[in-house]
Formats: sequence, structure tokens, C-alpha cells
Amino acid sequence: MAQEAAGKMVIPLMTPYKMGQFELSHRVVLAPLTRCRSYGNVPQPHAAVYYSQRATRGGLLIAEATGVSATAQGYPETPGIWTQEQVEAWKPIVDAVHRKGALFFCQIWHVGRVSTNELQPDGQAPISSTDKQISPDTLSRARTSRFPRTQDTESGMVYSKPRRLRTEEIPTIVDDFRRAARNAIEAGFDGVEIHGAHGYLLEQFMKDSSNDRTDEYGGSLENRCRFAVEVIDAIVREVGAHRVGIRLSPFVDFMDCVDSDPIALGHYMIQQLNKHEGFLYCHMVEPRMAIVDGRRQIPHRLLPFRKAFNGTFIAAGGYDRDEGNKVVAEGYTDLVAYGRLFLANPDLPRRFELDAPLNKYDRSTFYTQDPVVGYTDYPFLDDSTKNNL
Ligand SMILES: Cc1cc2nc3c(=O)[nH]c(=O)nc-3n(C[C@H](O)[C@H](O)[C@H](O)COP(=O)(O)O)c2cc1C
Repeated sequence: MAQEAAGKMVIPLMTPYKMGQFELSHRVVLAPLTRCRSYGNVPQPHAAVYYSQRATRGGLLIAEATGVSATAQGYPETPGIWTQEQVEAWKPIVDAVHRKGALFFCQIWHVGRVSTNELQPDGQAPISSTDKQISPDTLSRARTSRFPRTQDTESGMVYSKPRRLRTEEIPTIVDDFRRAARNAIEAGFDGVEIHGAHGYLLEQFMKDSSNDRTDEYGGSLENRCRFAVEVIDAIVREVGAHRVGIRLSPFVDFMDCVDSDPIALGHYMIQQLNKHEGFLYCHMVEPRMAIVDGRRQIPHRLLPFRKAFNGTFIAAGGYDRDEGNKVVAEGYTDLVAYGRLFLANPDLPRRFELDAPLNKYDRSTFYTQDPVVGYTDYPFLDDSTKNNL
């Protein structure tokens, strides 16, 4: 830990940072976390309690993955932002976060083939870059991995065979993303995070294990990234680069999405982001952790991307307090996003500041539908502040 001249300990995670036009008072970001409590794809009032519990003055929260259209769903009761009803339902949630002085970004996604016919309108096949189904092997592998566990990995769910999007359909999906970004701003969010990670639709196009197309959206790296680049360009035109971030996971192999050259993929995408003056942030997911010298270690392989990117860099995946302080102090990243620890510790920044003990997360309630249990009932250090909206 660095020593300040006055002799006070500096906690790197608790130092201020300017992200574009936004003044952050600390570097502890709430990672996007799907919680499956938005009944009928409409965000609910209990989300206002959950998010505002995690809001701090000058903190950055990223909302759970939020569908851009009726075909975007892959898990039960996940929120959307394509109808006016959904936009209206988000407004009081965003207000509750803003009242606490925090910034709130909406992560927008389309799951592509990580879905089933039952979750699709009229029981249709999920759409994708490909008609290749996710192999059942993937699910058993995911069940034993630490990251990222989603509902399917626990329930043993099998995804339906997808339908390959026709070339001429792609502009419609790009437009769904554009409209979702506009809706997010209308709902009051400070910006949007494009979900370009974890094997969902954008990655299904980007990575060569899941893109077997022969049109201009398949084949070369440039072609495979074309769809994601079109989404980025459309959203930047719609809401301005200063309000747009993206999440990428070139090294992660979730949902059968693997690239034979993740370094080239990551660099190509960073170059595309840099073309937009003021593109706000790049949020990258660490590769799987390794056990080195008997200790769990994050491999820290994102540095070349961080160096190449002109905007704010956020790293995520497996961080604790010490590791987060270390990477901020070293300049490896600007901000650190916390998933499971923030889920279980609504006052995580304060606990980090005090180096206080943490609540343990309960995996069994990650994706259950209860509006309270495992959602808003994790205790605060000082429980009297719990429902202080
Ligand atoms: C319950 C749960 C839900 C998640 N939902 C999302 C999501 O909606 N979008 C996303 O990009 N990542 C999602 N992830 C991944 C997290 O954002 C994060 O990258 C992951 O948990 C690793 O970080 P951690 O070690 O700090 O938990 C989810 C993870 C968990 C545990």
C-alpha cells in the first residue's frame, strides 16, 4: 500500500478517478450481474432497493444484462429495454441510484444461441451467427469451472439449435441495439455498456469457433468483428461516444465461444474503439485463474489491451481487495469491477476502505426469483443503513 506524505495510508481502490466527463470517487465498480428477478422481462421495484443498496456517492454501477429485443432472452425473468413499459419501469430504479450520487450504466445484450425455443417469441429457434448448437459438453465443463456460472450450468439446461441469421437480417439487430441504447438514456441511465463478452450474440460472430459464415460477416477477423463494429458505430452515433462502454472477453471460452487468436481479436476490437474519439470505457474479463505456487492467481494478461486503448480500462474476474489494490497501484487498470463480492456485500467499497470482513456469497440464490432472499437481504456492516434509500 502506498504511503502518503502526511503518513496516511492510501488505498488505491479508494482513490478518485475521472472517467471521461464523470468524476468517480473510488475505483470499485459493480459488475453486471444477471439476477433473474424482472418478472415478465420488466424490471421490478425490488431492483431499486438492490441497486441503491450498492450505490455510493461517485461510485459506478453497471446494471445486469438487459435485452434489446424479444429474441434477446436466454434466462428466465431477465429485464429488457425494448418496450416503453420497460423504460418506464427502469426510471424509478435509475432515480434511486442517482439519489445516492452514483453513476449507472445499462448493460445491453442479445444472447443469440444461448437460449431455447421456449424463451423465444412464438417458440421460434434462437438466432445466431451459426446454426451450430452449443454442445452439452460445454455445460458439464462450465459446471466445474469457477467462471462465470449461470443458471444453465447449475440446472443442466440444454440450449436449442439456433437459426443462422441471414445477411439481410443483420441491420435489424444492429438497429435493436441502437434503439435499446436510446431507451436506456431515456430511462435516465448515464450510459450503456455493450455486452460483447461471454459467448453471447456479439461474441458468436467475433470468435472463429462459433462463426462459420461465408458472407461479409464471417471468415476474416475483420468480417467476424463487422457485426460488433456496426453495433458500436450505431450506438455511438445515437448517444455519443462519451456515454458508451463495451465488455469484451477475448480469452474466455464460455458457451463454446473460443477464438484461435484472442490477442489479435482483442487488439482489433481496441483499434475499432479508438476510432471513436472519447469512447468511454473498455471492460475486459480476465482469463481463467491459475493456481501458481499453491495460490489462486489472476493471470493479468490484459495489459497490452489496456496500453493500446485510449479510454478508461476496467478489469474484472476473480479480484479481491488486495489484488484490486495491486492492479490499480501498478497502473494495470483504472477501475476494477467486482461481481460475486459486490453481490454479497452491498457496502463493498466501505468494507474495502475499512479492510472489514466480507459476507460470503450464496450461489444457490444467484438466479432465484425471490425479491428479497439472496438479493436485498445481505447484511451491511452497520445494518442500520440497510434500507436507507
Ligand atoms: C450471478 C452472476 C450473474 C452474472 N451476470 C452477468 C451479466 O449479466 N453480464 C455480464 O457481463 N457478466 C455477468 N456475470 C459475470 C460477472 O460480471 C463477473 O465478470 C464474474 O462474476 C467474475 O467476477 P467476480 O470474480 O468478481 O465475481 C455474472 C456473474 C454472476 C456470478
